[in-house]
Amino acid sequence: MAEALRILVVHGPNLNLLGTREPEVYGRTSLEEIHADLAALAKERGAELEFFQSNHEGALIDRIQEAMSWADGILINPAGLTHTSVVLRDALVATSLPIVEVHLSNVFAREEFRHYSHVSEIALGVISGFGPASYGLGLAALLDHLGA
Ligand code: DQA
Repeated sequence: MAEALRILVVHGPNLNLLGTREPEVYGRTSLEEIHADLAALAKERGAELEFFQSNHEGALIDRIQEAMSWADGILINPAGLTHTSVVLRDALVATSLPIVEVHLSNVFAREEFRHYSHVSEIALGVISGFGPASYGLGLAALLDHLGA
């Protein structure tokens, strides 16, 4: 049997608060529930996931760099760093891995400062606006791309 594809799932700042943070925007599903759904999807597709959330830009970059040695792709919700972080984008580019960017909310229907993403240009694609389902759609697209 072929080796399982391995995906790093990254969440940026404040996403540890999912479920209670601005539920009118981000819903009531917790990060743990999102992880359980993603793990079930990955199992069906024969893939393995590692999850990482941090409120610290440097910690996110360290984890992304470390994934270069083992991951086949990265699924990332960069949260607020989407709109501000050149260094996060540089770390993602440095991996040379396929990247899928996801957002719970439709960032294009929100404040103008959320319309620009430093990550989108270097991502395979972006899924935005489907709540927790954005993650599953993004993972499915990434696994399709990788031929899983
Ligand atoms: C977000 C959208 C960002 O603009 C925001 O800063 C977040 C969450 C989303 O998933 O909708 O923290 O990435």
